[in-house]
Amino acid sequence: MNMQNFEKWANVYDLIYGKYKDDIDFYRKEARKAKGKVLEIACGTGRIYLEILKDGVDAYGVDISGNMLKVLETKAKKLGLESKVKKADMRTFKLNKKFSLIIIPFRSFLHNLTIEDQIKTLKNIRNHLAPNGKLILNFFFPNPEVILKTYGKEIRETIKSKDKKYILINKSYFVDEVNQIIEFINTLKEKDKTVWEDKFQLAFIYKREFELLLSLVGFKTWKVYAGFNRKPLKSYKQEMVWIIEK
Ligand SMILES: C[S@@+](CC[C@H](N)C(=O)[O-])C[C@H]1O[C@@H](n2cnc3c(N)ncnc32)[C@H](O)[C@@H]1O
Repeated sequence: MNMQNFEKWANVYDLIYGKYKDDIDFYRKEARKAKGKVLEIACGTGRIYLEILKDGVDAYGVDISGNMLKVLETKAKKLGLESKVKKADMRTFKLNKKFSLIIIPFRSFLHNLTIEDQIKTLKNIRNHLAPNGKLILNFFFPNPEVILKTYGKEIRETIKSKDKKYILINKSYFVDEVNQIIEFINTLKEKDKTVWEDKFQLAFIYKREFELLLSLVGFKTWKVYAGFNRKPLKSYKQEMVWIIEK
């Protein structure tokens, strides 16, 4: 059982990912449509969770990192919102509620590194869904072009915050080629000085592999789209967006 977590990320997460907004409208709309309790798994610092809460949805969250949740709670207080989040693992969380909608945005399902963990998480989710509930999640299709072009290389990006400028260096590579597990090393530099560094791992999942997992835990009906505008999935360059019924 891999216990990787994002404790070290809490201070820099919003600086690095806070500006990413492509998925927010999609998840907000689905949360409003659910007309019931909504749970975000791996809600982090609330990039999506707080937007859903602002809409008046009865929204709950779980995340394995207490530090990430502290950031979320501070932001909620500033906005005058009452957050309902709990430090818990997606594989084992227990909430005394059934949800109309459970979401796992931003590829967080890929943090399950073994088949055992993937199944545990999906079973646990299914147990928390109301009879007509839905599970919606997204993750990338493993893209051989990206692997060939970028793996093992340092990819640099400039990040600006108020008065400061940082360089973010991202390096990805396979830590386990057979089981298709990759690791990302992220380094944040300010004026050539490393101010923060951490790494995390993800397990690749192909479309048919995920369909097998869904069948195995008892899901019967689902659709998979390309991106958040529900385009047909035709290429490994597209993000898979899954809408799964209980
Ligand atoms: C990429 S962040 C996504 C945060 C947020 N959903 C967003 O879209 O900005 C991944 C999150 O997954 C959480 N996480 C990783 N493994 C987990 C697990 N087994 N159970 C619950 N959360 C987990 C991390 O703590 C982190 O907050």
